[in-house]
Amino acid sequence: MAAQTLVSSEAAKLHPFDFNPEIDIDRAPSVLIIDAVDINRRVLRGMLKMARYRLLEATRAAEAFEILAREQVDLVVVDLMMPEMSGPEFCTKVKSNRRTHLIPILMMTSVQGAEGEIAGISSGADEFLTRPLHPEVVRTRVRAMLRNKAAIDSLEEAETILFTLAQAVEKRDKYTGDHCDRLAKYGMALGAALGLQQNDLLALYRGGYLHDIGKVCVPDAILFKKGPLNDEEWFVMKQHTVRGEEICKPMKTLAHVLPVIRSHHERWDGTGYPDGLSGERIPLLARILQVADIFDALTTARPYKPALPEDEAFRIMHDETKRGWRDPELVPLFQECLRKTELWQALPTGCDLSGPDSFQVSLTAMRRFLEV
Ligand SMILES: [Fe+2]
Repeated sequence: MAAQTLVSSEAAKLHPFDFNPEIDIDRAPSVLIIDAVDINRRVLRGMLKMARYRLLEATRAAEAFEILAREQVDLVVVDLMMPEMSGPEFCTKVKSNRRTHLIPILMMTSVQGAEGEIAGISSGADEFLTRPLHPEVVRTRVRAMLRNKAAIDSLEEAETILFTLAQAVEKRDKYTGDHCDRLAKYGMALGAALGLQQNDLLALYRGGYLHDIGKVCVPDAILFKKGPLNDEEWFVMKQHTVRGEEICKPMKTLAHVLPVIRSHHERWDGTGYPDGLSGERIPLLARILQVADIFDALTTARPYKPALPEDEAFRIMHDETKRGWRDPELVPLFQECLRKTELWQALPTGCDLSGPDSFQVSLTAMRRFLEV
């Protein structure tokens, strides 16, 4: 069935969230109605037609999945009973797919009793309504669910903007190239070798891109100064750790990354910055990313130095460990990880903002090669 788009001319009667004359119809919230019974779909269309929603319709689950694959859907309204696949089965499938799991689902039924509601909510439906439907209840419920979906979308957009900003910061320095990309992979490899859980590995992945985002606050004259920094300039440079944490702090999804951003320049003996933490008081994820960061800085060319071979880089890192600067266990472990060179050739390159999906690919590849 072709997608239908309904726009009311009775805008003046509408709830403010439903209608905004500035909104292009292509960007109006999309509601997918799935019901095998024509009259049920027609009733829902009638209840929602006053609002400026883009209404899509399907009569069975297979048709609905085709629409979900090609359209941006903001809300699914599905009947508990459908041919071929039940509402709860459909719901479970939508919620187990990373691409669709954030789409809210409103389940409906004509069957009285609590069993249907329990099955629906247990399968992942966000709301449940039993017929006969009260038009205003339906409209209010749909409006509230779309409002929540819009809030989730804006959070996702904010996170994407931060990653883009972090890449822009990195691009300011043309010599660092794919530094963030390599760091994310090195950090995850070392984390996987330590047997860290997925949320820690994801924090390392994100930390690879975001750890230096605070450099957006450091002027070019300091960031790219050819000679040594004076005390005042060095103070500004060191602030990139604290400023980076401030930038990312409002994003709750980045809470696990904040210690990486703040503490990636601490030293094992307490002579680092910004807090002078020492030993295991330095968050483990920050210590991991630091090892990866130093190795990458040593093995890539910069305006003031050539790229060093891996052996030479590790000689320097072991020297720094003897001086008390680095975690004495992590440096040799990282060296061991890098020996499995086939690991890096198998991993995807480039920053993929789709995040979790590419993360899964990387993680699977790492676990296979590291045999953890
Ligand atoms: Fe840094």
